[in-house]
Amino acid sequence: MNTEYSPGRARAIAYANVALVKYWGKRDADLNLPDVGSISIALDALWTRTRVELDPALEQDSFELNGQIEAYGSGRVTALLKRMRSIGGSETRSRVFSQNNFPTGAGLASSASGFAALVTAADRAYGLDLSPSRLSELARIGSGSAARSIFGGYVEMHRGELPDGSDSVAEPLAAAADWPLAIVIAVSERGRKSVGSTEGMQRTAQTSPFYSAWVNNQPNDLALARTAIATRDFDALAHVSEASALALHGLAMSARPGLLYFNATTMECLHRIRRLRGRGVAVFFTVDAGPQVKAICAPEAADTVAAALEDVPGVTEILRAGLGSGAVSMDDGQT
Ligand code: DP6
Repeated sequence: MNTEYSPGRARAIAYANVALVKYWGKRDADLNLPDVGSISIALDALWTRTRVELDPALEQDSFELNGQIEAYGSGRVTALLKRMRSIGGSETRSRVFSQNNFPTGAGLASSASGFAALVTAADRAYGLDLSPSRLSELARIGSGSAARSIFGGYVEMHRGELPDGSDSVAEPLAAAADWPLAIVIAVSERGRKSVGSTEGMQRTAQTSPFYSAWVNNQPNDLALARTAIATRDFDALAHVSEASALALHGLAMSARPGLLYFNATTMECLHRIRRLRGRGVAVFFTVDAGPQVKAICAPEAADTVAAALEDVPGVTEILRAGLGSGAVSMDDGQT
């Protein structure tokens, strides 16, 4: 046993990720098995830090987010801790303290970094020492996109085939340093989104006449993105990423009742980004289940992109990031 290891308390940091080929739809709600694979990049500037402290006196797990006892999402936290306790044969409940440095639940992937940080910290606090792939599987049970935040750089999440979900895990495709990119995020609303991803994708799968076309096309987009990343082909990555984001929103709009995640500012940002690319600036867009626009660009284009998006009426804040690393745990006491 590693003597530096101190089971009982641990901390972890995990970074948000943004999907370039989008995940939307599940084939199993209990294990949170996706109907489609996805490909994402990790963001270095958006993170969750989580501390897990075991306490034999606790009758229930407790979960604090940004200094407040959190009811929203605490069911998923407890379910995940229970599963991890059963792996380690422990009965001891935990106190979980999490901090996000960016808006929660507004389409900025707080559940991705949140659950990745949670399983990474709990793995250490309960002394489980699980592999990254196993942590990815556990994070997926918390939130599908969280499976990807175990790894850094460019990451692929596999749909998987097995009913137990053991092959529905993420794996790294390329390191951040292999192909540095910048991300400029135009924030136009800070509140929690009206229909969360889980509910939104369930409604879409049940009611959209186009859902099976979405699922059937996904292997195609995954292959295009994989090749674009392997060959560092920016234009090819731009085309498949914009296509996947627009297909996701078209699909969500085709649910009944239709899901509208864009606001007017979102739309204007997309036009600006297309115009910039038309002028030769290496940039493309993606949008998740909220109004924020994520512009992915060559690092040298980031200032130009940020200035153009800052200027769009309704943009209240610009966040900037580079590519991030995978989740990391540390003993409590360190930062
Ligand atoms: C639009 O991972 O938040 O961001 O698995 O139900 O927790 P659950 O959903 P979540 O969905 C993310 C959807 C998305 C696209 C993506 O990140 O791939």
